[in-house]
Amino acid sequence: MAEKKQAAVQCIDVRREFQDGSRVIKVLQGTNLTVYRGEFVAVVGASGSGKTTLLNLIGGLDTPTSGTILVDGDDITKLNDDQMSKVRRHKIGVLFQDQHLLPIFTALENVEVPMLLDDVPTEERRARAMKLLETVFVDHRAQHMPHELSGGMRSRVALARALANDPAVLLCDEPTGDLDHKTGGEIIQLMRDLAKNQNRAVIAATHDPETARMADRILLLRDGVLVDEMVGEFFRASKVDVSTKKTSKVVDEETST
Ligand SMILES: Nc1ncnc2c1ncn2[C@@H]1O[C@H](COP(=O)(O)OP(=O)(O)OP(=O)(O)O)[C@@H](O)[C@H]1O
Ligand SMILES: [Mg+2]
Repeated sequence: MAEKKQAAVQCIDVRREFQDGSRVIKVLQGTNLTVYRGEFVAVVGASGSGKTTLLNLIGGLDTPTSGTILVDGDDITKLNDDQMSKVRRHKIGVLFQDQHLLPIFTALENVEVPMLLDDVPTEERRARAMKLLETVFVDHRAQHMPHELSGGMRSRVALARALANDPAVLLCDEPTGDLDHKTGGEIIQLMRDLAKNQNRAVIAATHDPETARMADRILLLRDGVLVDEMVGEFFRASKVDVSTKKTSKVVDEETST
């Protein structure tokens, strides 16, 4: 019998408005979304469509104007600050483009930081951090400082750090933004493996068609709602340009000018 799918993230009629002087900017206007453990989902949409806003809300870094967000069963819109920071530490890992490693710590120490906040004993912390670096294939650089690592290696270390407390949900904002094509591809493959092999829900906001094409589902954010849901397999086969959702030639390294 097939295993029952476990919802790791549920957004129910989520709205987020920002006040800009006398003007109200309505970014999310009733977003509904369910992401299951084991799924790798890409959120695409034009710049300013609200991708980062949505990830920030799911990650508990921001609060919706209205609506409900469940993370691994907890309604995070009902938690106080203390409860929220616990959920953030234990259930959610984030890999944001501008989330830098701490420059004065080694790769290994950077991965240890979230566990430090959780009072994990030194030996265990170190061993777990090392194991995580192995998972993302950068353990040979454990003792290096961030500035001694390549961009791809730094992304891997940040990914290991995001996994430090074994989160149900991994949120990635433009995970391949700063990386070259090959390194970006490796990071996406890794993210996909983390969903499949470790049964996490991985959600990536992206402009990158390569990332979207690797996803199980592609969700398009337009005018504040998720207007479509497209199966990655279908996308890969049909070669639809995800940035416009029009059927057109896929632009990739080989064909673009
Ligand atoms: N704290 C804020 N205060 C006011 N407006 C905001 C705030 N955060 C986001 N916005 C607005 O919400 C809209 C959506 O922004 P968001 O960063 O979520 O877009 P995005 O889809 O991630 O774009 P990009 O692809 O460029 O990263 C934008 O118009 C932005 O200006
Ligand atoms: Mg963004």
